Amino acid sequence: MPSKNFAFAATTVYGFEDLAALEVEQLLGVKAEISIGKLFFKAPLSAIYKLNIEARLLHKVILLLWRGEVSSLEEIYKAARRVDYALFIASEQSFAVRADRFGTHPFTSMDIAAAVGQAVIDSYRSSTGVRLKVNLNNPDVEILCQLRDRDFFLGINTTGESLHKRNYRVYDHPAALSSTIATALIKLSGWSERHLLMDPMCGGGTVLIEAALLARRTPPGKFRKSYAYFKLAFTSLEEHQAFFKNALKKIQQREVPLLGIDKNAEYLRGARANASSAEVSDTIDLIVADSTRLDSFLKVQPEVVVVNPPYGRRYYSPRILRKLYPLFARALSRACRGSTLVAITAAPNIFRSALKTSGIEVLEERMVIHGDLTTKVFKCAI
Ligand SMILES: C[S@@+](CC[C@H](N)C(=O)[O-])C[C@H]1O[C@@H](n2cnc3c(N)ncnc32)[C@H](O)[C@@H]1O
Repeated sequence: MPSKNFAFAATTVYGFEDLAALEVEQLLGVKAEISIGKLFFKAPLSAIYKLNIEARLLHKVILLLWRGEVSSLEEIYKAARRVDYALFIASEQSFAVRADRFGTHPFTSMDIAAAVGQAVIDSYRSSTGVRLKVNLNNPDVEILCQLRDRDFFLGINTTGESLHKRNYRVYDHPAALSSTIATALIKLSGWSERHLLMDPMCGGGTVLIEAALLARRTPPGKFRKSYAYFKLAFTSLEEHQAFFKNALKKIQQREVPLLGIDKNAEYLRGARANASSAEVSDTIDLIVADSTRLDSFLKVQPEVVVVNPPYGRRYYSPRILRKLYPLFARALSRACRGSTLVAITAAPNIFRSALKTSGIEVLEERMVIHGDLTTKVFKCAI
């Protein structure tokens, strides 16, 4: 494989782009430019294997084909028409274009996908004489494009389905946290891995499982069956195998102190099943208890508390949260004095006021998008 550098984009959690850039730097040794919900960087083609197999904070790794400013659908077509797709798509392969659009434009994301699709067909035909096949359901090559105001990029999806789908989840908690956000919360906490990390409202166990995988250096790719790059003409299964084996060699089967609490025994059964599927159940303690009474039963002092309390949607109304959050914050301040707290909630005002009443100092607040919810992440000194 040539060691020449290529341009890449990678999508990530809106609000944790800085941590994702740090991860790309640690994995590839290159600096990434931070943008909204995504990164841009240059790296050899081998980054496709390395990032897809090992990255914990990225969603999709995209081989960039064009990036710049556009002000109309015609300019999008012209930009996409300039790319020579014959370098990346074999003549017998099918393709599909998916488009995202943010901002105000006199056209839709479907219009963008149609314009880019036409440009791909026209460009391919003019350089090879072949009319590429379109397959919207199961394409060999998926071209992703995004327009945010005037900023436009298009590239090849090397990942397929987002990397946040780790594939170890056998039990779906009704309000499960995304694996990439869970990892970002852990990293934000500054957890030193040898000390206790506690999730006192752990639900299906996402935070604890991601913490165990992180500490044991288990690559998320261990649980993944396939990637979009398996079908790409410029990658090889042999190279994938080499990177995959190398990533597995890094696993350290060590004890990681992790404690999960939830008041719902059924959720903990789900957490146990998830942990066992992720091969980390040996290092996670789970107890059924009420975390608003932590001070009455907790016998150990965690270094770090990472928690995703009920958000105030679905089952918990703001009225319930106005009772729950102050009781929980007071229990934390009594049982975990000196610990670091990282919490994510979609009811930040109620949470902030509960922290204040309990004398828990907020060190950092950031806005994070979780699915279709705008949330706040708090880093605090208890
Ligand atoms: C948003 S969910 C956590 C989801 C989890 N992060 C996951 O990925 O599956 C919040 C959890 O808090 C638990 N919970 C609510 N009140 C609690 C309390 N007083 N003590 C312990 N757990 C509680 C709920 O049972 C629920 O599982």
